[in-house]
Amino acid sequence: MRNFEGKVAVITGGASGIGFAVARALGRRGAKLVLADIERDVLMDAVHILESEGVEAIAAVTDVSDRGSVADLADATWARFDAVHLVMHNAGVAVFGAVQEMTPNDWDWTLGVNLNGPIYGVEAFLPRMLAEGYEGHMVFTASFAGLVPNRDLGPYNVAKAGVIALGESVRKDLRDTPISASVLCPMRVESNIDFSARNRPIVLGGAAANRSYTDEERGALQGRTLDTDAVAELVLQGVADDRLYIHTHREAQAYFDARASRISQAFHAAL
Ligand SMILES: NC(=O)c1ccc[n+]([C@@H]2O[C@H](COP(=O)([O-])OP(=O)(O)OC[C@H]3O[C@@H](n4cnc5c(N)ncnc54)[C@H](O)[C@@H]3O)[C@@H](O)[C@H]2O)c1
Repeated sequence: MRNFEGKVAVITGGASGIGFAVARALGRRGAKLVLADIERDVLMDAVHILESEGVEAIAAVTDVSDRGSVADLADATWARFDAVHLVMHNAGVAVFGAVQEMTPNDWDWTLGVNLNGPIYGVEAFLPRMLAEGYEGHMVFTASFAGLVPNRDLGPYNVAKAGVIALGESVRKDLRDTPISASVLCPMRVESNIDFSARNRPIVLGGAAANRSYTDEERGALQGRTLDTDAVAELVLQGVADDRLYIHTHREAQAYFDARASRISQAFHAAL
């Protein structure tokens, strides 16, 4: 998809961070936006900012971990714009801590938002987009943690590895259609992800059950922290170039190569 003018784009987790930056970048290129997010007030503010920039945009309060809520999002989008060209499956949350300390609620919340969310998005949007026959694109916000697992991020690593596989599957299975897919794999980006607890439902333990990085742990993380606008421009360039993998941090490559090499070398013992 080279031209975004007049296209309809849906972004989950669109009220903040990477999703909001992509929304603004798309708005500057003439796209119409549906911002979907669980945080109502922040979402309304985000849509007002887009409108003040001359962008046609609507807000859809959505919980991506709820299949029915994502189906409602699709209905609301078609009701308003009668088409969908671009979907960015982007809402995400993180729980930090060693895998042996993760509770059932930690797993359920992390996998529910980060992995089920994109799965429900594929279910709700893909068949209708295909039936319409337009050129379309799905962007799956994974993480570099899905390519090389991070320490103390077990459920997040698992979810993001799944998101990468989902994006790759969409890309492969829709090869002969006008719909394509990209997978975004960032290391650290300046956003509100470290404050994910704000969105943790009470039934899954609420904010108090969530652990974030300490300043010391955050300081020990590898690689640069990029700003969201730079990442948004990369995303749109990746879509325009129809790239499957959209990497953001050059310094991540050495870690990926080391993992790929470890996997490859293990074949020496294969039958
Ligand atoms: N920031 C980073 O360093 C980084 C790195 C790699 C990947 N990512 C991924 O980028 C994506 C965007 O995160 P971000 O960093 O911009 O963080 P962010 O917290 O700024 O934005 C995430 C958005 O998702 C929304 N959200 C949370 N739970 C939701 C739910 N159940 N339903 C709908 N919306 C929900 C939040 O309200 C928020 O607006 C996430 O998938 C995250 O895992 C972020």
